[in-house]
Amino acid sequence: MARSALLNVMVQAAIKAGKSLSRDFGEVQNLQVSVKGPSDFVSQADLKAEKIVRDELMKARPTYDFLGEEGGEEKGTDGAHRWIVDPLDGTTNFLHGIPHFAVSIALERNGEVVAGVIFNPATDELYTAERGGGAFLNDRRIRVAARKALTDCVIGCGVPHLGRGNHGKFLVELRHVMGEAAGIRRMGAAALDLAYVAAGRLDGFWEAELSPWDMAAGLVLIREAGGFASDIKGGTDIFGSGTVAAGNEYIHKSLVEVANRPIPGR
Ligand code: IPD
Ligand code: CA
Ligand code: CA
Ligand code: CA
Repeated sequence: MARSALLNVMVQAAIKAGKSLSRDFGEVQNLQVSVKGPSDFVSQADLKAEKIVRDELMKARPTYDFLGEEGGEEKGTDGAHRWIVDPLDGTTNFLHGIPHFAVSIALERNGEVVAGVIFNPATDELYTAERGGGAFLNDRRIRVAARKALTDCVIGCGVPHLGRGNHGKFLVELRHVMGEAAGIRRMGAAALDLAYVAAGRLDGFWEAELSPWDMAAGLVLIREAGGFASDIKGGTDIFGSGTVAAGNEYIHKSLVEVANRPIPGR
């Protein structure tokens, strides 16, 4: 399937930023790092990558809105389109020398994500999807896994940093899903978690406390790979709630049901 001109722009931007990340990953001990909040770091690598992506995308479509994790929201004159960018998803992995991180770029049209690119420069894995055109890993078509029973599944999750004593809700969800699934993974880059679901590597994924740039590109990948994604309650407010549950038709449904089971004994 031929890529559209705009998807090619997104791919070129992701590859260029990915090269910058790879260079910085080789010298990670020399990078300046600042702390944005508890367990939320930003390095020169994040900032450089965001500038590269922004410059490439805005050169191609100067009138579109731009939302980047580090620079925030910039309003354009177009009114219908918005770029949503996480220049380095998995900063904590990156800063610890763990080669599991990615550039994530999405295009939204009238509030709907219509194209997404996720690139892990450490493994040279490029995920792409456009609405109606299927999802691809390095140009090979991908599909979500086919397993139907949660008991056979490996499920990804995130572990939100909520501060001491505030993990109650997450721990209940985790306990419920752990009680059913064959295995749980916490890999540390939400965009790649979603891409892994699209590629059938993970059977499902759920997380809370996320931002649009963590999820936007992954959502179009999942849907184009034949999967389902919703907020954790099964609704459509993924960006607003900051939560996501994803998988094939069966596993998505099971995850929503299991994660929302009441706390035992209450
Ligand atoms: C983080 C990663 C992580 C998720 C965090 C995100 P960042 O993004 O996606 O897996 O658990 O909630 O903030 O800060 O590395 O881009
Ligand atoms: Ca961050
Ligand atoms: Ca992120
Ligand atoms: Ca980031």
